[in-house]
Amino acid sequence: MKELGVGIAITGSGSATPAVCLDNDRLSEMVETSDEWIASRTGIRNRRLAAPDCSLTELADRAAREAIAMSGIAAADLDLIILATSTADDLFGSASTIQASLGARKAVAFDLTAACSGFLFGMVTAAQFIRTGAYKNVLLIGADILSRWVDWTDRRTCVLFGDGAGAVVMQACDRADRLLGFELCSDGTQNKCLQLPYQPQSTELLEGVAIAQGTYHPITMNGQEVYRFAVKRVPEVIEKALFRAAIGVDDLDWLLLHQANQRILDAVAHRLKIPDRKVISNLADYGNTSAASIPIALDEAVRDGTIKPGDTIAASGFGAGLTWGAAIFQWG
Ligand code: UT7
Repeated sequence: MKELGVGIAITGSGSATPAVCLDNDRLSEMVETSDEWIASRTGIRNRRLAAPDCSLTELADRAAREAIAMSGIAAADLDLIILATSTADDLFGSASTIQASLGARKAVAFDLTAACSGFLFGMVTAAQFIRTGAYKNVLLIGADILSRWVDWTDRRTCVLFGDGAGAVVMQACDRADRLLGFELCSDGTQNKCLQLPYQPQSTELLEGVAIAQGTYHPITMNGQEVYRFAVKRVPEVIEKALFRAAIGVDDLDWLLLHQANQRILDAVAHRLKIPDRKVISNLADYGNTSAASIPIALDEAVRDGTIKPGDTIAASGFGAGLTWGAAIFQWG
């Protein structure tokens, strides 16, 4: 039997977003803001919002099916499913539900939480399983429904986020390895900059036996701090990943950043001296979809022919944790 190499190929992509679209003008009916402020400060014009009866599993399943179809494998061939999300339908995890809905009988499935860096962290995690030879076919999904955790009276955050899911299939291949380099980072000392924290309420079960039950507090963010963090750390981490890949900035075909703010995309590209024409951006249509933003943008660019097989991409995620990371990979 032919031995499989330890190379990794990204062979399929898919995405799914809810039908309901909320534009900046309609949002201005709810909070004191304007299309002019949102568009000029963030580049966002629309965001998609999941209806009450739409589950994260449903969006993730749709994106996954597209990625599996493009890769040419069957769901039954999958060995591993990683769902990167911070908004699972079930706090115990939603990856298994997706495994069941896809009919991926032999796949082990688990959730991975790293907020807006989740897809990047998931890609590197998947790569370790492939490189060790443990698994051949991995489905990686980034999906979030942050609209359920946004304070819709807080104009500083509610204008930023949208819902969606994106997915890729990563496979072992005996051709050259397509994941050229990566670097992941965390800094918990800055955790308070961006949180969706549990709000415990003490309940006494018996005398001397108290527990906490509550719910999660809506998203809080120090926008300026997170902005400063992103424009400093993201170029650094991309440079480290490029170093590990042993290639230079000029070898990149595309810069594919977490879609948080057009000004961040522009500033990072500027610092790295990457021309605007190489920057993938779709946040005008979707806003910040957290773990879904990189794979949705990737899938759109692949399907419209912008990204072609063999193109070299620098992807970088950043966000709550704080977490950030970059991966250099070739498509296809
Ligand atoms: O996915 C995780 C990663 N997250 C991010 O990357 C977010 C990073 N941060 C940002 O993108 C930006 O900091 C924001 C878009 C969140 C905010 O932009 P900014 O240019 O940093 O604005 P600011 O927070 O400095 O606020 C400027 C002004 C303030 O008014 P005053 O104090 O100058 O009178 C805000 O109250 O804009 C006001 N403001 C708004 N005005 C209209 C804040 N939000 C709004 C709004 N509409 N939606």
